[in-house]
Amino acid sequence: MCGIFAYTGEKNNAPELIFEGLKSLEYRGYDSWGIAARIKEKKGFEVERNTGKLPLKNSFAKKSDFAIGHTRWATHGGVTVENAHPHLDCTKKIAVVHNGIIENYESLKKDLLKKGHKFTSDTDTEVVPHLIEEYLRKEGFASSVRDVFNLLKGFNAIVVSYAPSSEIIACKNGSPLIAGVGKEEFFLASDLSAILPHTKKVIFLNDNQMAILGKNVRIFSLPKGRQLKPKIEKIDFDPEKSSAGKYKHFMLKEIYEQPKVILNLAKNYSTQIGRLSKVIKEAKGIFLIGAGTAYHACLSGVYLFSRISKKHINTVFASEFNYLEDFLNKKSLIIALSQSGETVDVIESLDRAKEKGSKIAAVTNVLGSTIYRLSDYKFLLGAGPEKAVASTKAYTAKLSVLILLSYSLIGKGKRGKEILIETAKETERILNDKKTTGKIKQLASLISKKEHVFIIGRGLSYPSALEAALKIKEVSYIHTEGLAGGELKHGPIALISKDTPCIVFAPNDETYNSIISNATEIKARGGTIIGISFKNSSVFDHFIEVKDVNEGVYIVQVVVSQLLAYYIAIIKKLDPDKPRNLAKSVTVK
Ligand code: G6P
Repeated sequence: MCGIFAYTGEKNNAPELIFEGLKSLEYRGYDSWGIAARIKEKKGFEVERNTGKLPLKNSFAKKSDFAIGHTRWATHGGVTVENAHPHLDCTKKIAVVHNGIIENYESLKKDLLKKGHKFTSDTDTEVVPHLIEEYLRKEGFASSVRDVFNLLKGFNAIVVSYAPSSEIIACKNGSPLIAGVGKEEFFLASDLSAILPHTKKVIFLNDNQMAILGKNVRIFSLPKGRQLKPKIEKIDFDPEKSSAGKYKHFMLKEIYEQPKVILNLAKNYSTQIGRLSKVIKEAKGIFLIGAGTAYHACLSGVYLFSRISKKHINTVFASEFNYLEDFLNKKSLIIALSQSGETVDVIESLDRAKEKGSKIAAVTNVLGSTIYRLSDYKFLLGAGPEKAVASTKAYTAKLSVLILLSYSLIGKGKRGKEILIETAKETERILNDKKTTGKIKQLASLISKKEHVFIIGRGLSYPSALEAALKIKEVSYIHTEGLAGGELKHGPIALISKDTPCIVFAPNDETYNSIISNATEIKARGGTIIGISFKNSSVFDHFIEVKDVNEGVYIVQVVVSQLLAYYIAIIKKLDPDKPRNLAKSVTVK
């Protein structure tokens, strides 16, 4: 999702640095980009903006000591050069980049239009530079930015530069912003990874704070503007480098990393699992929340805790949690699952739960992320950077943690580990067995020609079906629906016609006979059945073997589907790493 990078200092050529910074934010997902650099002799900005991806090399010819940059993921206004950030005021002396949604922009824009301001984009963002232009008539730069930010409704982060000043000002009450403190140079970014190559000294801006970066860093609280002592933290880890290496895409690399990720969790996390299961045991009323893929892991968690630990846990999409939170109290525990640790729906839910005094546990993949910092109990997945937009290894890592926790809760931690070790082995076999991968490629070719795909599962295979369907739709753009097998006859079966592919998860568990019956019902209506099971069945038209590895089978089923999704994208000549319209880290509601 939208990324911000800003720089002020004499040491580096700002536009070049911004360009590199934006490159490191690319994986978040964006559809256009822009850089505004202050050109001293012009007393204004040189702006470069474009739709699509950043070029391979920085084309900004002029040198500058301060610049701001942005990668945009369209919300208000289509993907056009005019809508790309930075946005300027009428005098072209104020440049603004913004993450979030200004919920009251329409009324603000109406007033500005009445005052004669000329707008050049359809964005909500453009009200900010014009408002600052108005306020600058009666007050200084910093107070103008503060007063304007206080007018904005919604979750927002803005970074503003004003050509006559050498300061960059940032305000936030939503999307992440981190200030980097160098020697006579300062950085601002929405992602720690963009700052760490330059400095290890950072300030995580909290909500309702304003930072002024110039000769030094000053922090103020909002709305009033009381000066605060900057809390500079020293980060003691190196930015994790990630390249696709021998793989053609990050998605493929991350799929193949899964056996290692599972094994690592099985072997090295006993202490953390023990700690978190103690917190779970003590809590009264537990909610697992997440978004997208992470929500599917939450749903698996509900089944796993019920089946293994005989414990009832609730789950809901993080975006729905706010409508269900009335019963929360001091004894409630919210377990947030999030790869990035930045999903705004999750953050908002956690903020509300905190207000009610509930405890927060976070299982994330990103050290220092907002959710990581917000939580009382922190659990890092250790899956390594996940760059492809479609989440793969973070999902299997979350499921591995949930399996370990479920067994640990009943004092059988060792059994959980054994299951994961077997699971890692079976995952490795699937990924490296040429017959299996060949079969998956053949099925990818069959599915790539279809418009609709159905995936069914029961029990723990139901969340797997949802996740498998999400993977296929995310990267192949084929309409794919994941369904609980028993729900087919209550509606969706009307959509089955001749040769509609239907993937059936039929593991060696209590669901086997019923799901085979559901497959038979589809076959009777002309559907093509692709069975993913521990044994072949006469109802399957195609069969992929996934050995019985107890609860680990629900991980392996999904791995098969990830590979299938990847190859469908390749056959359709799509980029699986950067699917259209999607973002890795969703920082707007
Ligand atoms: C976005 C991504 C999904 C991801 C979801 C939750 O929608 O495209 O791949 O599952 O956000 O992300 P999180 O980082 O919170 O796990």
